[in-house]
Amino acid sequence: MNTATALVEQEADIALRGIRSLDDLERLRIYFLGKNGKVTLLMGHLKTLAPEDRKLFGQQINRVKVFIESGISDLKEKLLSTDTPREFFDETLPPIAPRAGALHPITQTLREICQIFTKMGFEIVDGPEIETEFHNFTALNIPLDHPSRESFDTFYTPSKHLLRSQTSTVQIRVMEETKPPIRIIAPGRVYRPDTVDASHSFMFHQIEGLLVDQKVTFSNLKGVLNLFLRELFGSKTKTRFRPHFFPFTEPSVEVDIAWGSRSGWLEILGAGSVDPNVFKAVGYPAGKWQGFAFGLGVERIAMLRHGITDIRHFYENDLRFLRQFS
Ligand code: DAH
Repeated sequence: MNTATALVEQEADIALRGIRSLDDLERLRIYFLGKNGKVTLLMGHLKTLAPEDRKLFGQQINRVKVFIESGISDLKEKLLSTDTPREFFDETLPPIAPRAGALHPITQTLREICQIFTKMGFEIVDGPEIETEFHNFTALNIPLDHPSRESFDTFYTPSKHLLRSQTSTVQIRVMEETKPPIRIIAPGRVYRPDTVDASHSFMFHQIEGLLVDQKVTFSNLKGVLNLFLRELFGSKTKTRFRPHFFPFTEPSVEVDIAWGSRSGWLEILGAGSVDPNVFKAVGYPAGKWQGFAFGLGVERIAMLRHGITDIRHFYENDLRFLRQFS
């Protein structure tokens, strides 16, 4: 057989075996039998041959043409009879390795903080997210006209309950039910009707701490918080206790750590000695107990530690973000 026709037949044979769809089949038809197709071009070549060669060459081309045409019609029937497209499955390919899941970066930071306090003897406790005004404000010595009670700072339910705006509520719940000594931390979600942006979310996480006993001093508070901050941020971390005001503690402080090369200060938590009015609200006898409390935001700490600049990353569940913490 003439080499040109033999090659085209061979090529068509291989191509027909690789066809998996009607679209592929149509492309193959055009490639061989279309206006500029390989078979069509061979036919054009016929005219250039000497008359005695034409007959044999013509028969050969015709054979190739019939071969391709019948191949196409067989395949077409086959492809049309299977209603779902056939998928190519290569059982020799290596499998895709399964990926293990990982803890969310907020959970990681939260657990790490809790672990530091449990090592110091604090117990982890839980409290409800739907709360009363008494537990979120009144018992915490927050006056009736305090702006944080307004509906633009707290989510209220129609039944006059609210979504807790701080985990300080758990201080009250624990003291209502337990006699000192108390040494607890309470991690959990809190809610505030803030407009969402790079540093605000309507829901975030706090960790509250409370220690109540006899003869508790402000230096005990400083000792515990210094130890905590050095465990979390490194043993050389510098801290600063800056006077502040919270209704439920007296005196109150905000605690900063030195941050960055230009020795700026960054606020990390709020704290103070438990205000006698809080003990009164939970029914403790006056003057018998002393204590200290503190509260911190988990997102803020996770952002600082990982260099995250937008709080919304935590809630969008984008795997490209989350996989960096596995
Ligand atoms: N509840 C405060 C807040 O949400 C944080 C806080 C400050 C808690 C001082 C405390 C504390 O227990 O003593 O901003």
